[in-house]
Amino acid sequence: MMKNFPVEKFESLDTPFYYYDVNLLKETLSAVASEAAKYDGFHVHYAIKANFNPRLLRVVAESGIGADCVSGGEVLAAIAAGIPASKVVFAGVGKTDKEIAASLDAGIFCFNVESLPEIEAIEALAAERGVVAQIAIRVNPNVAAHTHANITTGLAENKFGVNYEQLNDVIDCVEAKEHLKLVGLHFHIGSQILDINDFVALCDKVNELQRMLKETRGLVLPNINVGGGLGVRYDAPDEYPVPDFAHYFETYAKCLHRYEGQQVHFELGRSIVAQCGSLITRVTYVKKGTRKQFVIVDAGMNDLLRPALYGAHHNIENLSSSAVEETYDVVGPVCESSDVFDKDIQLPETRRGDFLAMRTAGAYGEAMAFGYNCRALPGAVFSDEI
Ligand code: LLP
Repeated sequence: MMKNFPVEKFESLDTPFYYYDVNLLKETLSAVASEAAKYDGFHVHYAIKANFNPRLLRVVAESGIGADCVSGGEVLAAIAAGIPASKVVFAGVGKTDKEIAASLDAGIFCFNVESLPEIEAIEALAAERGVVAQIAIRVNPNVAAHTHANITTGLAENKFGVNYEQLNDVIDCVEAKEHLKLVGLHFHIGSQILDINDFVALCDKVNELQRMLKETRGLVLPNINVGGGLGVRYDAPDEYPVPDFAHYFETYAKCLHRYEGQQVHFELGRSIVAQCGSLITRVTYVKKGTRKQFVIVDAGMNDLLRPALYGAHHNIENLSSSAVEETYDVVGPVCESSDVFDKDIQLPETRRGDFLAMRTAGAYGEAMAFGYNCRALPGAVFSDEI
C-alpha cells in the first residue's frame, strides 16, 4: 500500500495537500476513451465539477475527451485547459446572462436547458450576437438511483430538468425560436451509482420517451446525453483503481435504442478522477478521551467535505506506521462537531507527525474545499512533479 506514496518526499511539503497519481489518471483516461471508442458515436465529456485543478484538467484535455460544465467559470476553465469549445456542454438550472453570453462567445457545442425562462434568455443573447445556439432539453426521467439522497437528481421532486408533462411545451418553445436549434435530449439520474440496473432503468425511460416523441411529433433528435454517475469503490481503491468502463458502455450499447446516426454523450466525473487522488494530512495530536482515542489531523472538513456532508467513507491509511493496530476516531481541527473523517477505525498505532492518506479523494475533494475558520485551501501535488 505505502509503496504507492513517496512518503519521504512528503517530509518537506506543507500539509494538507491533495496528491494526484498522474499515471493512474492517464490510465483511467485511456480506459474511458478506448472503451467508449468501441462504439460508433459515443462521446465522453469529463464533468469538470468533480475536479477543476488546472494541471489535472490539462491531462484530461490531452486525452481528447470533452467537458461537461455547470458554470461559466467551468466553461472558461475547460477552454483554458485546451478542451475545444466544440466538445463543451453546459448544464445547470441557474445559468446567468453573463455565463450564457461567455459560452455563446466561446462557441460551445450545446446548452442543456432546464426551463422556459432560460430558453428565453439564451434566445435573446444569441439574437444580440446574431448566432444560433444548440440546445438539448434536460428531461427529468423520474428514475430513482440507489445512492445518497443528496446526490440523486432524476426524481420528479428534484429541482433539475423539465418534467414529462411540460416537455411538449418546452420543445415547442425551442422550435419557435429563430436563434435556437434543438439538437438533443439530456438526462442525469444521480451520482456514485454502482448498480448497473439503474442505468438500464434510465435507458428504458429514454427509449420510451424517444418512441413517444417519434410517434406523436415525428421528432428524432441527433444527440442523446445520458449524463454521468458511474460510481467508484471507496472501500477498495487498490483492488479497483480503474472503474469498469467496459461494462458501463456495453450496457448503454445494448440497452439504449438509437435511431440512425444518433450520437450518445456521457458526462463522467467521479469515475475518471476519484481514485487518482488522496488527501495527505499530518497528525497534529493523538488525544486520549475517556472512552476513545482521537487522531487529530491538520486537514479539516473544509479540505474534504464529503464525510461531513454526506456521511461518505474514505479509506484512511497511516503511511508512517506499521505498528499494532488500535481503534481511533479521525477528526479535523475545525470548530464543528461534524468535522469528523471516520469513527472507530483501526489504524496502526499512530503518533504526532505521522502522515495519513485519505483515499479516493480525487473527485469532489479539492473541488469542494473552502476557507472556513480562515484556513488556507489545501495544496495539490502531482506524482510527476516531486
Ligand atoms: N452530469 C450532471 C448533470 C451532473 O449533475 C453530474 C453530477 C455529473 C454529470 C457528473 O456525475 P459523476 O459522474 O461525477 O457522478 N459532490 C457530490 C457529487 C455531486 C454530483 C453532482 N452532479 C459528492 O461528493 O458525492
